[in-house]
Amino acid sequence: MQILGQILEQIEGRIRAYSGPREPEGLYAPVGYIMTLGGKRIRPLLCAAGYLVDRPELEERVLDACLALELFHNFSLVHDDIMDEAPLRRGKPTVHERWNVPTAILAGDVMLIDVYEQLRMASLPGQLSAVLRCFHGVAVGVCEGQQRDMAFEQAAGVTWDAYLEMIRGKTAVLLGGSLELGGLLAGMDHDRAVLLGRLGEALGLAFQLEDDWLDAFGDPALTGKQPGGDILRGKKTALYVMSMAMAGAESRLELERWFDPGTVSEPQTRVQAVLDIFERSGSREAVAARAAGYHEEALGLLDQLDGRGPGATLIRHLVGQLKGRKH
Ligand code: IPE
Ligand code: IPE
Ligand code: MG
Ligand code: MG
Ligand code: MG
Repeated sequence: MQILGQILEQIEGRIRAYSGPREPEGLYAPVGYIMTLGGKRIRPLLCAAGYLVDRPELEERVLDACLALELFHNFSLVHDDIMDEAPLRRGKPTVHERWNVPTAILAGDVMLIDVYEQLRMASLPGQLSAVLRCFHGVAVGVCEGQQRDMAFEQAAGVTWDAYLEMIRGKTAVLLGGSLELGGLLAGMDHDRAVLLGRLGEALGLAFQLEDDWLDAFGDPALTGKQPGGDILRGKKTALYVMSMAMAGAESRLELERWFDPGTVSEPQTRVQAVLDIFERSGSREAVAARAAGYHEEALGLLDQLDGRGPGATLIRHLVGQLKGRKH
């Protein structure tokens, strides 16, 4: 879709302009590294699309909000990779691997701090309060989700509902907030902005289910992440939680044994054994089906959204692109 390509080019231009060399280099080189390492730019694209639901074309200031969302996302990735002890991101060494953990913490911090300045610049005088309120809810939600995600590594008996609550925080609220912020900057009324947020959350739930699925069954050359990274880290992903709900008693015990850090095994053996259980239990299929269900929910909410601009069509296109994504 041509207009989507043009918006992406504008977003990339703004990211490049932000990511140039700055002093002190020790702080900003890792920021430039992660910001220009690629990535799908879904959150800024959603923000732009949210704005365009009611407006015919983008304004310069909206690109500041797009940058803010990509900055927040990359801050969360840099810190997430420390928490998850991940070696690879977008096919390259993670920031804490390439530099070190203290450098990665501070690079993440400065990106988060810059988010607020970009949001200030993006907002018209009467909009800043609503924009900050919306972003605050998102940022707190991500922290809550990330804490639940870490706690699940040690927890037994994670339910599907608890899992959903976790991913709603760590991932879905940011996709929802991206659309909603776009709407708020366009001066959209409260109810329709909230509808945009709900649509983005449904899309975000699908997005994280697919992220979990790809970590296990995707092509590492395309995902750019360590093969089987979630399994090696003992993550209670959708595949794990669904397997525990669907598998027979014997397979459940087997799965628990492979997830027990005390079980000694070659990493590859562990990954393969767990993948086999995900397959056998039907969880591989079931998680993909749940993701498809949330995509449908997002499209259903989109049907309720009228608007004068091209935004609704752009959102439909983005949802289509994300469905069954490979990275
Ligand atoms: C990865 O996000 C982290 C999740 C919330 C699943 P993306 O899949 O959007 O990562 P990039 O920005 O495209 O690399
Ligand atoms: C990421 O979840 C959520 C945030 C970064 C806030 P994951 O830990 O599954 O993301 P990836 O798989 O490392 O990209
Ligand atoms: Mg991670
Ligand atoms: Mg994580
Ligand atoms: Mg993941």
